[in-house]
Amino acid sequence: MREIVLLLGGGGREHAIARALADSDVDLYACAENKNPGIAGLVTEFETLETTDPEAVVEYAQRIDATIAVVGPEAPLAAGVVDALEQAGVYAFGPEKDLARIETDKAFQRRFMTEHGVPGCPDYETFDDPEAACDYIDAYDGDLVIKPAGLTGGKGVKVIGEQVTPEEGKAYIRESDYETIVLEERLIGEEFTVQAFVANGAFETAPAVQDHKRAYEGDVGPNTGGMGSYTDATRELPFMTETDYEEAVSIIEATVDALEGYKGILYGQFMLTAEGPKVIEYNARFGDPEAMNTLPTLETEFLDVLVAARDGDAPPALAFTDQATVCKYAVPEGYPDDPNAGARVEVDEESAGDALLYYASVDERDDGIYTTTSRSFAVVGVADTIAEAEEIAEDALSVAGEEGLHMRHDIGKADLVQQRIDHVNELRGEQ
Ligand code: AMP
Ligand code: GLY
Repeated sequence: MREIVLLLGGGGREHAIARALADSDVDLYACAENKNPGIAGLVTEFETLETTDPEAVVEYAQRIDATIAVVGPEAPLAAGVVDALEQAGVYAFGPEKDLARIETDKAFQRRFMTEHGVPGCPDYETFDDPEAACDYIDAYDGDLVIKPAGLTGGKGVKVIGEQVTPEEGKAYIRESDYETIVLEERLIGEEFTVQAFVANGAFETAPAVQDHKRAYEGDVGPNTGGMGSYTDATRELPFMTETDYEEAVSIIEATVDALEGYKGILYGQFMLTAEGPKVIEYNARFGDPEAMNTLPTLETEFLDVLVAARDGDAPPALAFTDQATVCKYAVPEGYPDDPNAGARVEVDEESAGDALLYYASVDERDDGIYTTTSRSFAVVGVADTIAEAEEIAEDALSVAGEEGLHMRHDIGKADLVQQRIDHVNELRGEQ
């Protein structure tokens, strides 16, 4: 039977998912709020609809006789779209709403780790009363991280001692109207992501990725959805040992064991500390940009993962090419605080040369493709080394030019990678 796959979401991550499915024996459909020109070029039909509206998604899935749905972003998971699709008899690769709380409710997430004895959990407390949270900050010996429990697009977290002083942190808690706040120990180290493909109690992991959340070069400026990311030709990153990677995988294993019935991608965000990997957060989906590092080197057909999951089997063993990747986002000038939309995107899939081009939030008009107020497009270099992959990505960015755009040229460059290695060596006392 030829599968009919419906992809939800219209960002760079979903463009990468679409490309991972497009060459398989499949009829591919997509739906999102925005028409992503990259995805639209790969699918039989692109439907513009609210992906957080379960009825609208179910109606469309039934109209095209979808046999499998793949959910890209977190918002439809939080809105119960997977639950609705399953009630309608359409298999969805993504967790049901209750299980997606591992991402959508950070208080639930920390309590879950404690209750199930999942290793790698920092010290934390949860608060419904802002004044109690402020008292805790006053009494705590060390820096804390302030996290609103709900979804904030990665922009609600404040790190005391890095982004804010304790006084500013308390003012932030008092001014904002968050129902529940998590205060947790500030972890010091290097961040990395491991994404697991989970189905029927089993899982397979992808190579570790390092994202760059800060808007400007040198890791300064406001937090963003992610400005770019890289992987090495091995499963670990240059600042990690194989044991670090394996420890992260064992944390994921304990999590998957405890999350009964979970299916889809489980994204573990880790801090590699002097004591090994600790969990910063989980996401219930691929990372964006991390999907754009992971899917281009996946040799196993992603469709085979989806079909195995739907048929009650463990995911197939995943093979990745032994190549490094560097992904760089181009974002509108002023992003994220005061973005200017409307710049023309001057690069396309052909002129991107050896790089892969993924569209994100762009607006396709008669005379070309234009930026909106969110991340615009990403270029990805794939090569034997990080340095070569970085050059390929840079060549494509130079075709795009910088008019109305901002990008971080430092991502994947030898200097920044070396800083990460030095940082971990310093933490481990191995200078
Ligand atoms: P999150 O939305 O949980 O991914 O947090 C956003 C960013 O805040 C993370 O990528 C980290 O850089 C930082 N962060 C979150 N939790 C911690 C922590 N416990 N210690 C240090 N930094 C953290
Ligand atoms: N790159 C961070 C995220 O997808 O949440």
